[in-house]
Amino acid sequence: MEILVLLLSYLFGSIPIGLLIARMYNIDITKVGSGNIGATNIQRNIGWGPALVVLAFDVFKGGIALYLARTLGVSDFFLAACALAAVLGHNYSVFLRFKGGKGVATSIGTVLVMNPLIGLGTAILAISIIYLTRFVSAGSMMGGIAAVLLLIYHGDPLWQIVTATGLALLILWTHRDNFKRLQAGTERRLGSPREAK
Ligand code: G3P
Repeated sequence: MEILVLLLSYLFGSIPIGLLIARMYNIDITKVGSGNIGATNIQRNIGWGPALVVLAFDVFKGGIALYLARTLGVSDFFLAACALAAVLGHNYSVFLRFKGGKGVATSIGTVLVMNPLIGLGTAILAISIIYLTRFVSAGSMMGGIAAVLLLIYHGDPLWQIVTATGLALLILWTHRDNFKRLQAGTERRLGSPREAK
């Protein structure tokens, strides 16, 4: 049963909602802007409405995967594995030949289920950084690291700290090009494509 829940988590995560929504606007989101299928690139190239829908669904994917796993009573090891599987599904989707997004929103979904207060705190911190800098990537990376530190500080169970550490490492990995662009001063900002340059 645990393997089935793990597989389901990966499949939930794999649903490329950003790509599907962009297709409704006749846009191949993998070919415009940063090429990312996440809400940030949707906002830049289509607008806030579709971006918020993508953000909500990507958060939901992570949350529902972990919520279902917890409801079915799988072991702590499998809870961690299910959270990571949902994010890996988003990043390396079976529907996109194992390509995908950067996993931030889906990670937030899992942290919200692990510890709603810390999930909310992390999201508020990330949004504040994004608001101040308009670099979503900077807010995402800082948020990923902050979640780990907050869970440790709060004394949450080991499986949650291990999961959040895995998620933070994945976020740093998927943002490696963003990190280089931030250093070079060429990172795209949140906003219209022109402003984003
Ligand atoms: O969640 C993705 C965000 O942190 C960066 O997206 O499109 O600027 O690479 P993008």
